[in-house]
Amino acid sequence: MKIDKRDWFFIALVVAVLGTFFAITGKEKTKFVPYDATHRIVYETAFRDAPGTDASIMKRAFFKPDKKGAEKFCEPCHKERGVPFPPNHPSKNRCLFCHKLHQS
Ligand code: HEC
Ligand code: HEC
Repeated sequence: MKIDKRDWFFIALVVAVLGTFFAITGKEKTKFVPYDATHRIVYETAFRDAPGTDASIMKRAFFKPDKKGAEKFCEPCHKERGVPFPPNHPSKNRCLFCHKLHQS
């Protein structure tokens, strides 16, 4: 079979789609913020205004955890306890963009 120009275009498209797919799913592997005693203050801060289980579905659906408030704790504590960042760790100010919270 001869591969003509249009076939190459199609192959390039498939490669691009697959590449994007792997790039996105790769990001999903970023570690979650552990749900443990050490990180309780993070979860308490982020979810302090969370509507209770008796609140309306709308209220619960539109609730956003206070990530900016919770992020203030990350770096000082990690520094104090000497938790290492991996080499090439990205810019450090918005931790919770990348490290997700476990849904409570
Ligand atoms: C009160 C201290 C403290 C605070 C606050 C804190 N951390 Fe940590 N974190 C630790 C310690 C200590 C470890 C080392 C592992 C452990 O003991 O849980 C750790 C480990 C981690 C890990 C690695 C987990 C793993 O599976 O290896 C991630 C990711 C992390 N923290 C993210 C965060 C983010 C994001 C925040 C802020 C939203 C945060 N931490 C706030 C103390 C803290
Ligand atoms: C732009 C995305 C991004 C941001 C912002 C970010 N990280 Fe990370 N972080 C990563 C990636 C990617 C890794 C390496 C893969 C992994 O281990 O999750 C990583 C790894 C880590 C690890 C080591 C996990 C382990 O044990 O292997 C810790 C601890 C950590 N980050 C803490 C933080 C803290 C605290 C902040 C905020 C001050 C932060 N990160 C902000 C993307 C990010």
